Amino acid sequence: MSLRIREFATDDLETIKEITVQAFEPVSIDRNIENSFGTIKGRDWRFRKARHIEEDARRQPEGIFIAEWEGTVVGYITTLLDADTGVGLIPNLAVDATVRGQGIGRRLIAHALEHFRRQGATHARIETLDQNEVGQNLYPSMGFQEVARQIHYCMKLRDSEETPD
Ligand SMILES: CC(C)(COP(=O)(O)OP(=O)(O)OC[C@H]1O[C@@H](n2cnc3c(N)ncnc32)[C@H](O)[C@@H]1OP(=O)(O)O)[C@@H](O)C(=O)NCCC(=O)NCCS
Repeated sequence: MSLRIREFATDDLETIKEITVQAFEPVSIDRNIENSFGTIKGRDWRFRKARHIEEDARRQPEGIFIAEWEGTVVGYITTLLDADTGVGLIPNLAVDATVRGQGIGRRLIAHALEHFRRQGATHARIETLDQNEVGQNLYPSMGFQEVARQIHYCMKLRDSEETPD
């Protein structure tokens, strides 16, 4: 397998947003919200999930790494490092479904951890959903230790087409 992990370039943004919306359908809070409430403001969950990647790229583009297989972008990982706390966070990670199970996700995480170490971080954080079996196996197998579980809630405030009073 000819896999290369490289730095993110602005030109990669649309591709990694596309990989994101394909990868996260079964494991996305935004998708879950849509399952319960329908689309919001005429936008589906893909629009909202893709915004997270735009936000990661806006905050720390130098912390995004791209997995390229024979010249094709097949995955990515985003990182956010808070130098003051020494804790690095991995907000998003995805690999194209056609090439999963071959160690690309593992390589991306290892690369992100090395990036954190090089930047002086002492700890790394990652989150996964209860419904994400892969994450719950993969992350502990790479050395992450469970520290908390969280419940996400959502409520409707008004119909999207209603204007505020
Ligand atoms: C998570 C993800 C990035 C992993 O990518 P990948 O390239 O397949 O990862 P790897 O091949 O390095 O490892 C995947 C591991 O999960 C295991 N796995 C695959 N399907 C599984 C399942 N249904 N249940 C449990 N483990 C599973 C694989 O066996 C492998 O473990 P191993 O190395 O011990 O054999 C990919 O599955 C993905 O994009 N998922 C959708 C988006 C997502 O969940 N992102 C993370 C959000 S927290």
